[in-house]
Amino acid sequence: MKNPAPVEHPVHELIRERWSPRAFSRNEISSEDLRSLFEAARWAPSSSNEQPWAFIVATRNDNENFTKALQPLVEFNANWAKNAYVLGFAVAELAFAKNNTPNRNAHYDTGAAMSQLTTEATSRGIFVHQMAGFDPDTAREVFEIPSGWDAIAAFAMGYPGDPASLPQPYRDRETAPRVRKPIGEFVMNGKWGHTADFILK
Ligand SMILES: Cc1cc2nc3c(=O)[nH]c(=O)nc-3n(C[C@H](O)[C@H](O)[C@H](O)COP(=O)(O)O)c2cc1C
Repeated sequence: MKNPAPVEHPVHELIRERWSPRAFSRNEISSEDLRSLFEAARWAPSSSNEQPWAFIVATRNDNENFTKALQPLVEFNANWAKNAYVLGFAVAELAFAKNNTPNRNAHYDTGAAMSQLTTEATSRGIFVHQMAGFDPDTAREVFEIPSGWDAIAAFAMGYPGDPASLPQPYRDRETAPRVRKPIGEFVMNGKWGHTADFILK
């Protein structure tokens, strides 16, 4: 299903088309496509070019690891994410590898890599639904994530499916209007809370 953003100012089609479905088709994603998605993540910018991200990924035809990837998810997410072709976790390294001092941008940079992956996915008709609803301790345990690295988001990925295949309450959410704050609320100049002049024209 397409669900383009009702934008108030023109943006690239890829930005408009990206959204977070919960209905996924059973279609496989090719290894070639998967490699390109992580190549897109690879070329994200990062503080000191540290590239503080890692991705733990399981495809549904790898039953053992797919089952492991479902374990950390809260039930609300596992109920729909189990139908995606890929389940994964974005993991961030919390200190700079070169001197072991805290990298306060590790989460930011890992999010940027995930965003690039998502945009590349959209260009290939593949959709990504990220999730905060998982238990990081369980993820650490089942995937043996070392200390110094934190699983910061889970994600489900696949080709979109039919919203009618979802049970409630997911089905209604799938077709609910997409909403955002207006840009005037979060683009400021001069002082906090003062909407940037170019927004007002
Ligand atoms: C870091 C992050 C965590 C999220 N956690 C969940 C989640 O646990 N469960 C869920 O169903 N959606 C989750 N979402 C999806 C958001 O609800 C969704 O991105 C938001 O409502 C905007 O919708 P859109 O992505 O379709 O534009 C998460 C998204 C992000 C980026």
